[in-house]
Amino acid sequence: MQIVITGISRGLGLALTKSLLQRGHSVIGISRSGKVFNELESLSLQFGNAGFIGITADITQEVEWQRIYEIIQNSIDTIHALINNAGILINKPFTQMTADDFDRMFSVNVRAFFFGIRTLIPLMRSGSHILNLNPPKLGNIISKKIK
Ligand SMILES: NC(=O)c1ccc[n+]([C@@H]2O[C@H](COP(=O)([O-])OP(=O)(O)OC[C@H]3O[C@@H](n4cnc5c(N)ncnc54)[C@H](OP(=O)(O)O)[C@@H]3O)[C@@H](O)[C@H]2O)c1
Repeated sequence: MQIVITGISRGLGLALTKSLLQRGHSVIGISRSGKVFNELESLSLQFGNAGFIGITADITQEVEWQRIYEIIQNSIDTIHALINNAGILINKPFTQMTADDFDRMFSVNVRAFFFGIRTLIPLMRSGSHILNLNPPKLGNIISKKIK
């Protein structure tokens, strides 16, 4: 399969990318830092699959998605799966969250999520999958009983 995944420079995104490459999938990975791209290219060659392409981009910038689209369109014919993994959590008590904190989280967890799906759907086909590991969230509250 040809899989696009955001947020591959560390954590879950990096582990998932390694696992997918080891299983023979092609991965196009996106993060602001490209520090793991060489390692992932080597891993891809080691497992003899169709390859790894790393794209450094800030996914909160709408203009970056046009560049991402063009790189992907020039590299593969279709996207079988888009994994929205990149996300941030500003871990502080909800009552101490500032407007800037809110804007930063909204930017990655909601706006970038929207840009990515909207941009890449034209490269997907019937049967392709979108997997959201970062359900849009804006703070460390999922459900809370007020005491
Ligand atoms: N860890 C948990 O316990 C947990 C639990 C439930 C859900 N999740 C969700 O699972 C996902 C991964 O979690 P994690 O703990 O692995 O996160 P993490 O270690 O903080 O990694 C986040 C990734 O997102 C990328 N990223 C952040 N902002 C970006 C931006 N503006 N543009 C491009 N890439 C960006 C980071 O790369 P750069 O900094 O290089 O850009 C990094 O690779 C997140 O969506 C998180 O909400 C995590």
